[in-house]
Amino acid sequence: MRDPHCILITGASSGIGAALAELYAEPGRTLALTGRNSARLEGVAARCRVRGALVVTAALDIRSAGALADWIGEVDSATPIDLCIANAGIARGKDGTSESAEAIRQIFATNVDGVLNTVLPLLPVMRERRRGQLAIVSSVAGFRGLPGSGAYCASKAAERVFAESLRADLAPFGVGVSVICPGFVHTPMTDRHAFRMPLVMEPERAAGIIRRGLARNRARIAFPWLTVAVCWLLGALPPAWSDGLIRLASGKS
Ligand SMILES: NC(=O)c1ccc[n+]([C@@H]2O[C@H](COP(=O)([O-])OP(=O)(O)OC[C@H]3O[C@@H](n4cnc5c(N)ncnc54)[C@H](OP(=O)(O)O)[C@@H]3O)[C@@H](O)[C@H]2O)c1
Repeated sequence: MRDPHCILITGASSGIGAALAELYAEPGRTLALTGRNSARLEGVAARCRVRGALVVTAALDIRSAGALADWIGEVDSATPIDLCIANAGIARGKDGTSESAEAIRQIFATNVDGVLNTVLPLLPVMRERRRGQLAIVSSVAGFRGLPGSGAYCASKAAERVFAESLRADLAPFGVGVSVICPGFVHTPMTDRHAFRMPLVMEPERAAGIIRRGLARNRARIAFPWLTVAVCWLLGALPPAWSDGLIRLASGKS
């Protein structure tokens, strides 16, 4: 959608979501922003208001389906939502170490259930209006299971595949669906990575690429191309080859 009037963004208190909010903040636009950390969320909202946008906020946990649906309903009744960006997500445990049993469940609850909690309330509304756009933030990590991040990769694969099906289902109703697959972006999520991140980019640059892709209603907005090509190839190769390449890259061969 070229010029969405009302945009809802989850995970707007940090990283890519905050950069998207600030990029879209313009006079005449309504932004509905959510995240859990109220102080950071209000900081983003204040910067968006300075840029001229009308901003409503709610500090919510996207795992709470009822509370999220109620708020989405309130926002939509006041100003019909044109674009919803389901961006909130987590990787690994809170301490940034391995995917413990608890972390695995939290990752699925946030990245899969949380995205469903965000988009499902809008499906009947947008279908009925025959207008709207849904954007689901997945990752290139969803192209192939990688060591040490099985739940993250699987949750991102689920988001991507769900979005692809939804796009076909909603096209006859004039509703667009895009899946966003970034490579490494420099945010608090990746700050705790101990390894070197190839082709890492700043969130502002990622937000610009996402906005341009959404304006064209692109099915898949994946970037940067070299990271996408490598991850796509790893997913397409026979596992005996890709397992070997991954072991080689991680220095465990
Ligand atoms: N950074 C990367 O390299 C990268 C690459 C590919 C894809 N992605 C995806 O991009 C999205 C944004 O990530 P980011 O890098 O911007 O990470 P981030 O800076 O850690 O931001 C994550 C956002 O999600 C929110 N969030 C997490 N759990 C939540 C919950 N249960 N309820 C409500 N909000 C919740 C956080 O809110 P609070 O902080 O307020 O709790 C925060 O606003 C994620 O889906 C991630 O998987 C990131």
